[in-house]
Amino acid sequence: MYLFYDMSKNILIVGAAGQIGSELTQKLRELHPNRPIVASDIRHADYAVEKPGVFELFDVTQMDQLRAVVAKHQIKEVYLMAAMLSVTAEKYPEKAWQLNMTSLLNVLELAKEKIIDTVFWPSSIAVFGRTTPKIETPQVTITEPNTVYGISKLAGERWCAYYHEKYGVDVRSIRYPGLISWKTPPGGGTTDYAVDIFHHAIKTGKYECFLTENTKLPMMYMYDAIRATIQIMQTDSSNVKIRSSYNLAGISFSPKEIASALQEIIPDFKITYQPDSRQTIADTWPQSIDDQIARKDWGWQHRYDLEATVREMITGLRSLAAVKSI
Ligand code: SER
Repeated sequence: MYLFYDMSKNILIVGAAGQIGSELTQKLRELHPNRPIVASDIRHADYAVEKPGVFELFDVTQMDQLRAVVAKHQIKEVYLMAAMLSVTAEKYPEKAWQLNMTSLLNVLELAKEKIIDTVFWPSSIAVFGRTTPKIETPQVTITEPNTVYGISKLAGERWCAYYHEKYGVDVRSIRYPGLISWKTPPGGGTTDYAVDIFHHAIKTGKYECFLTENTKLPMMYMYDAIRATIQIMQTDSSNVKIRSSYNLAGISFSPKEIASALQEIIPDFKITYQPDSRQTIADTWPQSIDDQIARKDWGWQHRYDLEATVREMITGLRSLAAVKSI
């Protein structure tokens, strides 16, 4: 499956200070130690992202800045991970639209001009809405998102498909579920509770959840999300049949279910529920996703179930806490 992959192409990761971007940067550098990999963001990133390689500080919504970075490093492949997530986007709708849309259109334009060859852009389960079938949500279904973030992701998907059809742009995309990681904190998302819960469990042994106990949402351990991202980018272009964005599934659980998995390791852990405005967003999203097409087209398979995710989260966060206390 990876035979066609051109290892010589210089890579740019935009949004490398963020939750996905930072782990993606580190994974790509580990996989390709001799390949030029440029990390970038509008703000400084952690030491582990910024120091060991090349880092550029710039604003991807400014086309001249993007052009300059791409030209300077002769970039051929872009991972565009910069975005404003669902909760923050509800607070700043115009800013969210501007960031989420302009960044994508800028990158797609460079691909249309054949300056870059391949683009990865993440979509989300947020493209679905209240009217979408909630269980095993199919690839092609009703998409009437009820959030600014979801509207921007759905519009982005249509732009990706359009640039592919009209200009032959090689753009690849995945609809990420909520992502869980101990290395970098998430920011401004509705699914963030599934990360916060671990931090609180370790620090205080209790957590007040902003979603109700039975709010089931699609989720994924970061290791799987990074694998999926690299896998869709490494597959031959002819395998990528969907050019809007692929459904992608890992696990699905409710706050009550993750709390009881956590209690297997920390038996005294206590959870309470105080739903806030984020519940309204969660209520519009699916409970589980049908990702058969990704599995068929480019061989996607998730590895982490709920138990393995919980185990890794606790082990990872405990090791971080131990390092900090030294
Ligand atoms: N994790 C995102 C959010 O909650 C969904 O893609 O906004």
